[in-house]
Amino acid sequence: MITCRNRQTLASDNFASTHPKILEALTEANHGHARAYGYDELTAKATARFCEIFESEVQTYFVFNGTGANVLALGACTKRFGAVLCPASAHINVDECGAPEWQLGIKLLPIATPEGKLLPAQITPHLHAMDSEHHSRPCAISISQSSELGTLYSTGEIAALAEVAHQHGLYLHVDGARIANSVAASNTSLKKMLVETHVDVISFGGTKNGMMYGEAVVFLNKSLGQEIKFMRKQSMQLASKMRFISAQFLALFEDELWLKNAAHANKMAKLLQQKLETRQNLKIIYPVEANAVFVQMPKTLIHTLKQELFFWTWDEEQNIARLMTSFDTTPEELHHFVSKCE
Ligand SMILES: Cc1ncc(COP(=O)(O)O)c(C=O)c1O
Repeated sequence: MITCRNRQTLASDNFASTHPKILEALTEANHGHARAYGYDELTAKATARFCEIFESEVQTYFVFNGTGANVLALGACTKRFGAVLCPASAHINVDECGAPEWQLGIKLLPIATPEGKLLPAQITPHLHAMDSEHHSRPCAISISQSSELGTLYSTGEIAALAEVAHQHGLYLHVDGARIANSVAASNTSLKKMLVETHVDVISFGGTKNGMMYGEAVVFLNKSLGQEIKFMRKQSMQLASKMRFISAQFLALFEDELWLKNAAHANKMAKLLQQKLETRQNLKIIYPVEANAVFVQMPKTLIHTLKQELFFWTWDEEQNIARLMTSFDTTPEELHHFVSKCE
């Protein structure tokens, strides 16, 4: 008997439940009154905790969701006449209903990338005529780690992008909705991946890694975050009962739960890849480096599978499905999915 949960288990990591330890933390935080809007004890602890896990004096601002985090982070990097260079597949370009453009008045300059990753050589052709008022002036580069196609930038690749950005007066933003998966998969630290590579600001994901809701905008370049608290309020991302977001992040960092959750999701993606590769009729399209598997399958199979299972078709023309694992994916669920891929 298939439950609703395992029918949808590979749809996305934000289809997943909330980790029990996060729920416990929410219950624990639910005592008495606390100052609103982030001036409470748990928020002070949680923002201090971010400095510890980044091993650096970062400035952290909690928000409700990933789109809000991206808009705020980019807002800090841009002027109203600015542009942001990003992969064409970037969430900010494809899946945010134009929020960065609408909210900030900026222009996104999407660049086609083979595996969802920008290269420094793709940036420089966009950096001419920076002084001409007829063009939107590039102010930032935005990349996703892991990328929208489930691939990872190495620390060297991130450092090279930061270098080209800074040489031309741009900032580097990382959409880290899945930063935990990236750190867990790369066997490195946030410090090495983001601080030492000179990233300016990161949207740090919680929701896709076991939290009920909540993300953070983390400034590594502190001079950038000066006006963010005003922008957060204006963009309706200031939680009055912020202690409940803070409590979740504290629980996520306790005993490295954030890395354990992410490592499990990554392991399940590798297992899924191995299982799918045994099927002659299926083709894995991108390297499986975090918790996403992109698989090309016959159109008729997609249709048949979807009678019973829910997942997103990433590319309707090429018949590519995106399968995503999470902290609570089980090997049985993978087995069930693959057994249907006849
Ligand atoms: C890479 C990436 N960035 C940002 C977001 C936006 O998150 P939210 O849906 O919470 O606004 C998502 C959500 O799927 C995402 O995958």
